[in-house]
Amino acid sequence: MAVHVSDGAAVTVGLLGCGTVGQAVVRSIIEGGATIERASGHRLQLGPILVRDASKPRPGVDPALITTDPQRVLADPSVSIVVEVMGGLDPTLDHLRQALAAGKSVVTANKQLLARHGPELLEAAEQAGAELRFEASACAAIPVIKVLRESLLAAEITAVTGIVNGTTNFILTEMSRQGLAYGDALGRAQALGYAEADPTEDVNGADAAAKMAILSSIAFHSRVLIDDVPYEGIDNLHAEDIEHAHSLGFVVKLLGVARLLNGAVSVRVYPALVPHGHRLAAIGGPDNAVLLESRTTREIMLVGPGAGGDETASAVVADILSILGTHQGSFLHNAMADSGRTIARPGSVASAFYLRMSVADRPGVLARVASIFGDESLSIRSVVQSGSGDEASLVLILHAGAEERMDAAVARVRALDDVRGEPVLLRVLGDGEGGDR
Ligand SMILES: NC(=O)c1ccc[n+]([C@@H]2O[C@H](COP(=O)([O-])OP(=O)(O)OC[C@H]3O[C@@H](n4cnc5c(N)ncnc54)[C@H](OP(=O)(O)O)[C@@H]3O)[C@@H](O)[C@H]2O)c1
Repeated sequence: MAVHVSDGAAVTVGLLGCGTVGQAVVRSIIEGGATIERASGHRLQLGPILVRDASKPRPGVDPALITTDPQRVLADPSVSIVVEVMGGLDPTLDHLRQALAAGKSVVTANKQLLARHGPELLEAAEQAGAELRFEASACAAIPVIKVLRESLLAAEITAVTGIVNGTTNFILTEMSRQGLAYGDALGRAQALGYAEADPTEDVNGADAAAKMAILSSIAFHSRVLIDDVPYEGIDNLHAEDIEHAHSLGFVVKLLGVARLLNGAVSVRVYPALVPHGHRLAAIGGPDNAVLLESRTTREIMLVGPGAGGDETASAVVADILSILGTHQGSFLHNAMADSGRTIARPGSVASAFYLRMSVADRPGVLARVASIFGDESLSIRSVVQSGSGDEASLVLILHAGAEERMDAAVARVRALDDVRGEPVLLRVLGDGEGGDR
């Protein structure tokens, strides 16, 4: 049974976690309390706060609220909203199951948990008559989930294309604008606090894949889990390809690309060449941006900070306000995965490609490469050849074609005697991507 809050009554918010985001949530509730009360008619009151190590200093947080016992938050009947900002899957999943089963509403910033267990938790919330909100889990301060769930609910979204990881966008911006090698740009991101000490999930695309699973589930009213999202990161990118892309009129970005293709949902994360004139090309540094396309509203782009304690806390507090605003007779349901859409087979998706390979500068090399692409019904848009002898480099831009045909063509090209080493293959945004054609 849901824990209801009545108008004018104080609403107690318990926290699971009090680190970077948790402490910013506490500050926000204390400093913004009067505004929240004026806007919602409810006074927020801080309840118990779960941490691992109670002896750590937490400026501005009442030490009497700190606990290392999860039951002080989860089993406290006065707590009606639980804010989960502890991260991780275990024991977090069990804590959220318990909170929802007790009818408490939950606000979480935990993308990895939602991208794996979102449908189950939304179902549990629906059954308990409680609410599960997760704006902070994708793009922190940018209110993209609220826009998709409310403002664009009836807009029939057809595509969501995003720069949803600020760390990699910062690294790529540095590589592109300062000509830095990948390792140097990553070091700079770490020195400036834009990358974690262990940046693996950011640079390999897993963080972006989790966010795209969440965004596409909401955009397409579907169940998309992280396992449905093939992802590639930027950890194997070469400064050379960023330079080639630049001279051909593109900038390289790590993109989350979600599309409806012949009624099925396709969601992927990969580094791609974005034309200089495209709106997403202008998003530099650690910012995030999400481009929403629909038949009715055409294109809407949201841009802003995708991380940071205060920025993420702003989304958490907005979710608390949504819960206060809709708790009785809520028109927003938790689980909206009612479209019945299937997941598209990745090989059937069509993309345009950039292909760079080292070749021996012998007569007829280009003709042999071109005939392989012709056999696979793939057409070449442009070719640039540089260098000579065994060090010649061939850069091709290919028009959109089904990815399985592209993979087959590249495997045949790689086997040619003239080709040296591994070819580099990157997708190109905006040249007729879509379903099988
Ligand atoms: N930081 C950002 O910019 C950002 C942006 C978007 C989303 N998020 C998400 O927000 C969540 C929190 O991130 P954060 O940066 O605030 O992390 P953090 O600074 O590491 O804080 C985690 C907090 O949770 C507590 N905690 C962790 N595991 C626990 C356990 N097993 N039992 C009890 N307490 C536990 C920690 O306790 P101690 O303090 O005692 O160690 C700490 O207070 C994560 O899901 C993250 O992905 C963060």
